[in-house]
Amino acid sequence: MKNTVIAIDGPAGSGKSTIAKIIANMLGYIYIDTGAMYRAITYKAVKMDVDPDDENGIVDIVRSSDIDFSDGKILLDGEDISEQIRMPVVNERVSKIASIKDVRLMMVDLQRKIAGKHNVVMDGRDIGTHVFPDAKYKFYVEADIVERAKRRHLEMVEKGYEIKLSSVIEDLSERDRQDRTREFAPLVKAEDAIAIDTTTKNIEQVTQDILHYIRRGDKNEN
Ligand code: CDP
Ligand code: CDP
Repeated sequence: MKNTVIAIDGPAGSGKSTIAKIIANMLGYIYIDTGAMYRAITYKAVKMDVDPDDENGIVDIVRSSDIDFSDGKILLDGEDISEQIRMPVVNERVSKIASIKDVRLMMVDLQRKIAGKHNVVMDGRDIGTHVFPDAKYKFYVEADIVERAKRRHLEMVEKGYEIKLSSVIEDLSERDRQDRTREFAPLVKAEDAIAIDTTTKNIEQVTQDILHYIRRGDKNEN
């Protein structure tokens, strides 16, 4: 039987990964954070001092890297880098690196391979449009930019970063701009995705909304 894919796309801080994790847990699916994959390559480029504009250098990094997930952690060449990929310098550079077509082709290949073996909840920017255009369920989660930045700011302060809300607003706006305007597989709502505005909704409410659509879809099929 074919595996089921639940695709959750949307801009930074809209709540994708938090909700995707909960839904995956509830349904017994594997959760795949595709943003973490682009972040892992960016982190390695920072460590190796390769400029994000050096496309050949970045593509070489992807070719020689091993990315894997284990117990909710992301492993790069066998090392758990789940914390390091959230560093501000990675936030600043990741969208540039994610706009390189060859980088995306290799990441998408890996994403499809992982999903070939399991039922998955996958979150990102292009899952419903490009990675799995035939996904059984597609959601596009959005929220007001200031609300998204407040959420992300709180997380960073809790992790010990000294950062102003205004810089987080700037970072998210710039990443949204780059993600929405890149040529290959930009961030856009798939025509058949269900849009959910999370600005005034808590995590529990959004989770219930998504589960409602999934259960309804399952019922319609039987
Ligand atoms: O968690 P946050 O929303 O801040 O970002 P993320 O999901 O970790 O993704 C980081 C960056 O990776 C995004 O800003 C995109 O530039 C890129 N990305 C992408 O291009 N395609 C994906 N499927 C996932 C992430
Ligand atoms: O993955 P994405 O960047 O879309 O967002 P996230 O990392 O899941 O969520 C960013 C932060 O917002 C987390 O700390 C969530 O707990 C919080 N959040 C929230 O307060 N209310 C929501 N409806 C969704 C997320």
